[in-house]
Amino acid sequence: MAYVRRIVFEPDPILHKVAKKVTELELKMPLTQQLIDDMFETMYEAPGIGLAAPQVGIGKRIIVVHVGEDQGPYAVINPVLSDFEGESIGTEGCLSIPGTIGEVTRAEKCVVTGLDRKGKKFRLETEGWLARCFQHEVDHLDGVLILDKAENIREAVPIDAESGAEADRELRA
Ligand code: NI
Repeated sequence: MAYVRRIVFEPDPILHKVAKKVTELELKMPLTQQLIDDMFETMYEAPGIGLAAPQVGIGKRIIVVHVGEDQGPYAVINPVLSDFEGESIGTEGCLSIPGTIGEVTRAEKCVVTGLDRKGKKFRLETEGWLARCFQHEVDHLDGVLILDKAENIREAVPIDAESGAEADRELRA
């Protein structure tokens, strides 16, 4: 059974702290497995495409990402990003800063390594929206928010279903 947890909002101090690595023993504990289940549930309910443990008040290096179709669901423990390539600017929001968006420059591609929820080695080559989402989540683990790096920070205008401004959608994570 998975439960929706309360999302922590800015300016909660936990959002600005560096999260701690998860040990393999800790990862096997039912409490941690429940946290991962709950993080997915909380992300889907929001709705969002990514969530980091500090956003539910837990200072551990755990993220969940599900961008859609064949891009997820991924739970990555102690994620590390490498092999950055290219650059892209995209509009991002954050579930912990509701109603605020801005343009964030990210790498177009990166490789994600870490552990999966069973403790097995995880490696994924990402690009585009998926790469952006992983970069946003790993920032959360380092206490970095879009407020720290976005340009043109502003109030989000709700997307009008009539005009279908899909191109202007922001990352919600
Ligand atoms: Ni966020």
